[in-house]
Amino acid sequence: MDNKIKTLYWDKETLYLLDQRFLPNRVEYRSCRNYLEIISAIKEMSVRGAPAIGISAAYGMAVAAREALQKDFNTVQMLSYLEQAASELIKARPTAVNLFWAVKRIEIILQDHLESKPEEIYSIILKEAQQIHKEDIENNRLIGMHGNKLIPEKASILTHCNAGALATGGYGTALGVIRTAFENGKNIHVYVDETRPLLQGARITAFELCQEKIPATLITDNSAAFLMSRGGVDLIIVGADRIAANGDVANKIGTYNLAILATYHDLPFYVAAPISTIDPEIGSGSDIIIEERSGSEITGIGENLIAPKDIEVTNYAFDITPASLITAIITEKGIISKPGYRELKKLL
Ligand code: MRU
Repeated sequence: MDNKIKTLYWDKETLYLLDQRFLPNRVEYRSCRNYLEIISAIKEMSVRGAPAIGISAAYGMAVAAREALQKDFNTVQMLSYLEQAASELIKARPTAVNLFWAVKRIEIILQDHLESKPEEIYSIILKEAQQIHKEDIENNRLIGMHGNKLIPEKASILTHCNAGALATGGYGTALGVIRTAFENGKNIHVYVDETRPLLQGARITAFELCQEKIPATLITDNSAAFLMSRGGVDLIIVGADRIAANGDVANKIGTYNLAILATYHDLPFYVAAPISTIDPEIGSGSDIIIEERSGSEITGIGENLIAPKDIEVTNYAFDITPASLITAIITEKGIISKPGYRELKKLL
């Protein structure tokens, strides 16, 4: 994917985000020249996926610093503008911890530059955002390398949502493991859950797999149980939006269903995520805030209404998979089997 379609890139003091709402029909970038545009892009899901929104928010701080320069702010004014930008960026979506993690990383750096010139502050923030971006791709390659050890020579793999190159800075987490196995000549077949309501599986994961020519089959979310009962799946691998200190995982709604099905069918259930997705401040999954999105995402597909528009709707964007249902978490530092509080603490 690296030399192909990018999730985001920085050019001439502007952040360009691939507008994923339009995939697979068209490849279009959304240019962001002020931090409020980045907040809108995250909320509207032009950019999505936990690591990708973290990286976007880090660049969002660089964009805010650039705005401050254009407004001719002095250091004090600039720092106050950045504080405001940080507090608004972290509110764009509530579940993925990467958003908070990335903004905090920039804020920590700023502590050493409280008296620096505005130009210097801008260039330091931009450098840190670019470093976060670069590290994410490197970590994903390491996740792929470790995760590949869990993939048999021939495997039928089920995945949910999109934890691919387009959900990250590049290469992907769950899809990064699949990609590494494929690059290593393994005989891989991927089943892709379409992932209602926003169809990240059908629109984005299927798109990435077709681009990479990795054999794949698209299924409806409700086909997974039957497919497993027929022996069609060897293992399940998904990404994560936040991992609690005890190993409980928040990920796209429907992940928990798959973990229960995997347990019932005695199949390994893997979560691939960078360490930045682990939130040591959250004790268990029940403390993770689950985003609820507009009912219109369920009552309609695109412009087409598929349910009475007045029907009451509950639209949880994520669910919690208890650690007890997870065979292993794959990180850039290695594989944590039977994840729990003690195992995760060793990584942090
Ligand atoms: O609502 P989304 O599309 O942002 O949800 C994305 C997921 O749930 C991914 O699995 C998760 O963020 C990991 S991406 C590497």
